[in-house]
Amino acid sequence: MNKVKVAVIGCGVIAPTHIQCYQACEGAELVAVCDIVEERARKLAEQYNVPRFTTVAAELFADPEIDAVSICTEHYTHVDLVIAALKAGKHVVCEKCLAASLPELDAMIAAVKAHPELVSSGIFQHRFTAINRELKAIVEEGLLGRLLTSRAQLYCERTNEYYLKDAWRGKWKSEGGSILINQAIHFIDQMLWISGGPAVDQKPVAMIRNLNHEGIIETDDTAAAVVPLANGALGVIEATSASFHIWHNTLSFEGTMGIVEIRDDKPLTVEFKDPEVQAAVAKRLADSAKPENLDFGKEYYGGGHPAQINDFIAAIQEKRAPYVTLEDAASTARVILEIYAPFRKV
Ligand SMILES: NC(=O)c1ccc[n+]([C@@H]2O[C@H](COP(=O)([O-])OP(=O)(O)OC[C@H]3O[C@@H](n4cnc5c(N)ncnc54)[C@H](O)[C@@H]3O)[C@@H](O)[C@H]2O)c1
Repeated sequence: MNKVKVAVIGCGVIAPTHIQCYQACEGAELVAVCDIVEERARKLAEQYNVPRFTTVAAELFADPEIDAVSICTEHYTHVDLVIAALKAGKHVVCEKCLAASLPELDAMIAAVKAHPELVSSGIFQHRFTAINRELKAIVEEGLLGRLLTSRAQLYCERTNEYYLKDAWRGKWKSEGGSILINQAIHFIDQMLWISGGPAVDQKPVAMIRNLNHEGIIETDDTAAAVVPLANGALGVIEATSASFHIWHNTLSFEGTMGIVEIRDDKPLTVEFKDPEVQAAVAKRLADSAKPENLDFGKEYYGGGHPAQINDFIAAIQEKRAPYVTLEDAASTARVILEIYAPFRKV
């Protein structure tokens, strides 16, 4: 089968993870990287031995040699890049969060719908880790009974320096929010995905605060929300980037017959009415809590990127939908953007 020729657009923090994933993927050939800051593109091209670099994404879109692109730029730039890529006939995988506002997200979805012949995907790498898949299977098998509440919690630390380092962070227009849209988004996605998705006809309710980054960011460093779920249960979100914890996440699912919680990808609470079910679920979660391949990226990225990139490439070769379609990823983005909607000033 022909290799899929790929370019990575955006050469910042996440780009090396995508680059290494493509270079390790048998079906892919990474042919170019791109950044509007020439030095960044040149540096990554040299460091990873990528044949060429450019500062103009449009050059890559116009290049018939390139089949697919990874969008690794800031949130507010995703919409134009994804639409331009699709219009040029390129398959596209875009980092989270897909968009910084609801109109941007709607425009992106319209372009995806206009190009069903192309593979489009949104990065949610944690959907590829073993314990999350096992947890989803446990919930879907009905072992918890009727699902009552699902909770996604993230306590992490983002310093003033972190927010000030890049101009796009901490602003409604460019980041689209902060703790929910950038860090907690992964756990919000897992909570929604494992629970069977958000209710389509009801909006979330929420409060957001900036408790410890006043004068630094205009967005949220702390947030709490309730999201109505499609199955009638309630999803609860609690997140802060003002914690002393570097990174601490918990996912909880409480049903009429049992409760399961995982913290930082390890089982935390497994309690069931039926002791046999409890023992079986505890074993399944313990067996799936193996360390993931953490060769690429930071530890809290969770090791799922290689599997998602492999799936994206295989989807192109096999002419099938990817495991995480862009529209699927957009459903989580939409929940977050709806949470923010009453608080946005722009
Ligand atoms: N999945 C994850 O775990 C994970 C982790 C980190 C970041 N991310 C996501 O990846 C994206 C990038 O984040 P980052 O931390 O790497 O940001 P960053 O600011 O470090 O890098 C973004 C780069 O994109 C470049 N850029 C902007 N517009 C461009 C354009 N039109 N063409 C080419 N290059 C352009 C910028 O110059 C910059 O170098 C964000 O959406 C972020 O949320 C995901």
